[in-house]
Amino acid sequence: MKSAPWWKEATIYQIYPRSFFDSNGDGEGDLPGVTSQLDYVKSLGVDAIWLSPFYTSPNKDGGYDVANPRDVDPRFGNLEDAKELIAQAHKRNLRVIADIVPNHFSDQHEWFQAALKAGRGSKERERFHFYDANEDGTPPNNWISLFGGPSWTQVADGQFYLHLFDSSQPDLNWENPEVNADFEKTLRFWIDLGVDGFRIDVAHGLIKEDVLTNHSDPQGLSNALRLDVAMDSEVRNALLLTVPYFDRQGVHEIYRKWRKLFDSYVGREIMAVAEAWVHPPVNATRYVRADELHQVFNFDLLTAEFDSKVLFDVVERSISLNATVNALPTWALSNHDSPRVASRIGEEQARALALFVFGLPGSAYVFAGQELGLPDGQLQDSDRQDPTFLRTNGQIKGRDGARVPLPWSGNTTPFGFSTGKPWLPISQCWRDLTVESELADPKSSLHLYRNALELRKEFLVGAGGIAWLESSQHGAKNDSLLSYSRGSITVVMNLSDSAKECDASGKLIIVSGGTVDARDGKKVIPARSTAWFLA
Ligand code: BGC
Repeated sequence: MKSAPWWKEATIYQIYPRSFFDSNGDGEGDLPGVTSQLDYVKSLGVDAIWLSPFYTSPNKDGGYDVANPRDVDPRFGNLEDAKELIAQAHKRNLRVIADIVPNHFSDQHEWFQAALKAGRGSKERERFHFYDANEDGTPPNNWISLFGGPSWTQVADGQFYLHLFDSSQPDLNWENPEVNADFEKTLRFWIDLGVDGFRIDVAHGLIKEDVLTNHSDPQGLSNALRLDVAMDSEVRNALLLTVPYFDRQGVHEIYRKWRKLFDSYVGREIMAVAEAWVHPPVNATRYVRADELHQVFNFDLLTAEFDSKVLFDVVERSISLNATVNALPTWALSNHDSPRVASRIGEEQARALALFVFGLPGSAYVFAGQELGLPDGQLQDSDRQDPTFLRTNGQIKGRDGARVPLPWSGNTTPFGFSTGKPWLPISQCWRDLTVESELADPKSSLHLYRNALELRKEFLVGAGGIAWLESSQHGAKNDSLLSYSRGSITVVMNLSDSAKECDASGKLIIVSGGTVDARDGKKVIPARSTAWFLA
């Protein structure tokens, strides 16, 4: 039997290089820093690392403002360091996924600089979305940037350019074949250097429609598109159906071309995962049709309440929708754009949810620090660097809290992350959350993750679908068990605030917190905890 491709049920560890490990004492993590900690990464039991951008960049948006996609920013090292990182990862049988940013470049990219010089009507400007002002001097339309403020900026000769994000991130014009040609060159560049796959940033955004038409509620739409702005879900969903710059049919043509490029590397199993936050959820499956990409992120768990009905629906929907295109889902509880799961739903709940999710079919993504149970860093406004914070005059705090550097060792901040001053402060409160101190504590979150990922590999990868168990109660969270069986494992999550009996059979092999007791032939699952039983 042909074995499944490596990515199919891989556990993928997201590294935000600036916050991972600093090898040269400048206060910022770097590629040699990542390389130096690959044994730690391997010890978690993950299959691959996804590196957030490390390309040449003025770093106005954490490196998602790329000035040269085929080189390494000096703050992270150089191309030799990238090659060494890939080689060392491969030596440990870890695959490497690079983060590619096709929706926009940095305004410092040579194309944008050339466009500024060349002036209106030039072919240099056709690589971006440049338009004249309206007759009254206003921008071509009323769209609002996802980071706040207008999504148009005026240049010296009066034209405006479109930027869905920061003004330093001009959107590329994907109707221009030069743009795809350049990106294919970038894909080949990194594949030739050894990477095994790509995370495609804003994968749903490349094609824009109605660029000269106003939206009826631009501010509402911009809010609806942000994970960190709370909004009634019906209002949000209705607004999301009206977005003119995301999830247009044209994006799929691009991914069909890219798929051919990936598949031309016979034997390499190059994969790509789309960051495509689309609505309705069924639309996400289009990105993983057989001739397109391999995975698409499921963002539902980044915002889902710790509630059995909500979680049941998310899991059920994700599995069944993906099945319609013969794909498996992805699961992510945290990433660099959203509050850390331990802060969002609570420490014990975060452990329980992780163990619940690690049993599911598909690929699990773990954001570095999640395995330690890190909460969001508490920051002063003066520390913040996220363009969202800056562009909304501080109204939206932004994503820096999730990006605070990792605590590694010792009793004093910055806990071995750097010999210098970390780019964001690491709280002294994290003393018991360092890798070193968690390694010494068998009950730590780190041990839970390591044990769970080992068991997942042993019993669950390739085990097929899940069957929900009758004991699952999709009621109020204070009265809920959610359980499924898969292969030889039964997974039971108790979401309630008190211990609950269940009739799962088999031998207990792991529990996310507390102790599982037996009572009248039944198992008693502790409050806010998940347990796995082996038949
Ligand atoms: C990335 C963000 C980034 C944005 C613009 C996203 O979806 O994950 O970190 O700010 O794209 O590139």
